[in-house]
Amino acid sequence: MLRIGLLTSGGDCQALNAAMRGVVKGLSANVKDLEVYGFENGYKGLIYGEFRLLTSRDFSGILTKGGTILGTSRQPFKLMRTPDENGLDKVEAMKQTYFKLNLNCLVILGGNGTQKTANLLREEGLNIIHLPKTIDNDIYGTDVTFGFQSAIDIATDAIDCIHTTAASHNRVFIVEVMGHKVGWLTLYAGIAGGADIILLPEIPYDIDKVVEAIHNRTKDGKGFTILAVAEGAISKEDAALSKKEYKAKVAEHKYPSVSYEIAEKIKEACGTEVRVAVPGHTQRGGSPCPYDRVLCTRLGSAAAKAIMDGEFGCMIGMVNGKTKRIPLGDVAGKLKMVDPDSQMIKEAKRMGISFGI
Ligand code: F6P
Repeated sequence: MLRIGLLTSGGDCQALNAAMRGVVKGLSANVKDLEVYGFENGYKGLIYGEFRLLTSRDFSGILTKGGTILGTSRQPFKLMRTPDENGLDKVEAMKQTYFKLNLNCLVILGGNGTQKTANLLREEGLNIIHLPKTIDNDIYGTDVTFGFQSAIDIATDAIDCIHTTAASHNRVFIVEVMGHKVGWLTLYAGIAGGADIILLPEIPYDIDKVVEAIHNRTKDGKGFTILAVAEGAISKEDAALSKKEYKAKVAEHKYPSVSYEIAEKIKEACGTEVRVAVPGHTQRGGSPCPYDRVLCTRLGSAAAKAIMDGEFGCMIGMVNGKTKRIPLGDVAGKLKMVDPDSQMIKEAKRMGISFGI
């Protein structure tokens, strides 16, 4: 008898169900006696013993279904060692649930924070496999995370739609793209959507250079400009502040996000109409794109193989087109960021895209 647990934690994305389907189909086709326990709402389900026994029927027809059939929640890693409001030791509670169910392995799908807790559970002696989920693509050790390509499609669609209205009205438009503290999603969607200016957290912008890029387009007879701005974009002045100073500055901001601050500065400097469009959580919604369906099927199937081989304590990543078992201890807590000196950034610059520097 093989007993596995599954949980999805952190922000959702389009391909979580596809990945779980990959794991379970990969196992059920090869293991005679299989029990699959699905923990509800992320680590919460593991802490409080909220789970359900799943059958192969639960994994049928979910390849194309966005969200997660298990539900998810954010349980910050930094609070994992802090008892809950009733004094419950969360880590001990998770271990108890795992051992009470006599699980052979727990498959955890999630992003960076989720991965840190997965690694903690590994250190506590649990058999863990992590699958790298996030639209942000910021997980270290894998070339790509699932959810990323699907989110690129949506963010690119948003920029495409803005193009026509920006051109009709001769306006400057900012499309604010998700991605937390990294710029992968903005970089890819910005290039795919033909944005004129792309602002990323990894390349602190100079507002004068942003304004100059808009002026140059106007001089060239272009009536509109599109900026793809990462939600984590930061000015060079703000990047020079300490973490504490920056937090204090953000706390007294009147702007809902960085895009509105940039919009106001552009309006002041250029005197043009500026609009901000925020696709927000639509970027995590809907069906996974075909690329993500294939990626998740491969990662899920590779996870099933690792479980059958009895190899745990790893993330199943994609490296140079091949699935790979990467020790969790080597990657947990590290962030994969856009390299400002990378070939891709240089190529984009050569095309005339401004990064505000
Ligand atoms: O990590 C995925 C992500 O969508 C980020 O891009 C974004 O900053 C964050 O989650 C939003 O979190 P929430 O869904 O909690 O608002």
